[in-house]
Amino acid sequence: MSISDTSLKSFNTFSLEVNAVKIITVDTVDQLVSAWSDAKLAGLPVLLLGEGSNVLFLEDFAGVVILNRIKGIAVIDEHDCWSVHVGAGENWHHLVRYTLDQQITGLENLAMIPGCVGSAPIQNIGAYGVELQSVCQYVDLLDLNTGIVKRIDSSECQFGYRESIFKHHYRDGYAIVAVGFRLNKKWNPVLTYGDLVKLDRKTVTAQQVFAAVCAMRSSKLPDPRVTGNAGSFFKNPIVEAEKARSIKESYPKAPFFEQPDGSVKLAAGWLIDQCELKGFRIGGAAVHQQQALVLINVDNATSRDIRALARHVRVQVAEKFAIWLEPEVRFISSHGEVNAVEALS
Ligand code: FAD
Ligand code: EPU
Repeated sequence: MSISDTSLKSFNTFSLEVNAVKIITVDTVDQLVSAWSDAKLAGLPVLLLGEGSNVLFLEDFAGVVILNRIKGIAVIDEHDCWSVHVGAGENWHHLVRYTLDQQITGLENLAMIPGCVGSAPIQNIGAYGVELQSVCQYVDLLDLNTGIVKRIDSSECQFGYRESIFKHHYRDGYAIVAVGFRLNKKWNPVLTYGDLVKLDRKTVTAQQVFAAVCAMRSSKLPDPRVTGNAGSFFKNPIVEAEKARSIKESYPKAPFFEQPDGSVKLAAGWLIDQCELKGFRIGGAAVHQQQALVLINVDNATSRDIRALARHVRVQVAEKFAIWLEPEVRFISSHGEVNAVEALS
């Protein structure tokens, strides 16, 4: 366990200059429980963080930030699959590379997603046609008040698009400490999205899918080590078929993703782009030129700049398309998470 200075700049990928009362790094479940109990005894709020790649700090955090760095990757070679048990504090992209290096396939479409393994089930991370839920077997969840770790089977996680039970019922007072994966030995490449459709299913390897995903991501998404950002700022909106039809009539080329229940997922980046907001700037915050769904910190942005920009984007999209975008990024106030839609209203 170690205690850092109080700056959160390197623990949020927007690189905002914000502080906490204390920042504690934990490597074990016991340390996590003890850091939590100490903070509670001191009457301080607690925020668990992985790598801070999906948070917007609205102001300084008036409490203790606990960085989960519980490590370990254990692989069991089963008859038809590999079972992989991973500590929540492992870096996600490191896990993807590690498995591929061991000839274990299945995570390649999810390459280069920033953050920790323990954060991945929370919004059911997804990219290039694959979501975490298709490879997740279980999540080990620590009840911070009792110190008991309970195993939640994937079928109980209520996974959905950028959704899970960890954003709701298991949000407060719980920490994810490990995630279990089931990766099938019979590889079934997912080549449905973007440039992956150009690959030949008969000859393609998982390494090639990994390389193609990394190339696509690098061409559109800013590297947070260079330009502060938190990936997609908003979720893609899911609208009723009728609404989608009316947009399609005016914009035949609008990207559409039909859902099993008949609703349609639209591309928020495309909607923002249609409002001609690429490059639009408020203070030090701007809409990314290569991907309008990403808001960036171009020049010492404050959280006020990013919030003002997000508000502007939301209003412009609502005026043009009558759709109110909802943030994907989690908004953190001085005492903990707040409702992001309300914070922008
Ligand atoms: P944090 O930002 O540290 O935390 C996120 C939330 O989880 C917070 O509310 C935090 O309190 C909570 N939390 C963190 N750790 C724990 C824990 N152990 N137990 C309980 N609660 C916890 N996401 C995608 O789905 N697909 C993408 O393609 C994608 N691309 C991205 C690209 C870029 C450039 C960036 C910056 C982000 C991208 N994201 C993407 C979003 C982000 O990578 C994911 O949401 C990631 O899972 C966040 O991990 P983290 O460790 O940084 O979480
Ligand atoms: N588009 C535009 N202009 C833009 C941005 C996008 O016209 O400025 C169009 C694209 O041409 C494409 C469509 O919108 O037709 C979708 O764009 P893209 O493929 O870049 O994906 P996205 O829907 O914007 C989602 C995820 C990403 C994930 C990618 C790849 C959400 C909110 N975002 O983005 O996840 O990496 O698909 O699968 O679902 C994240 O969650 O942080 C994230 C980066």
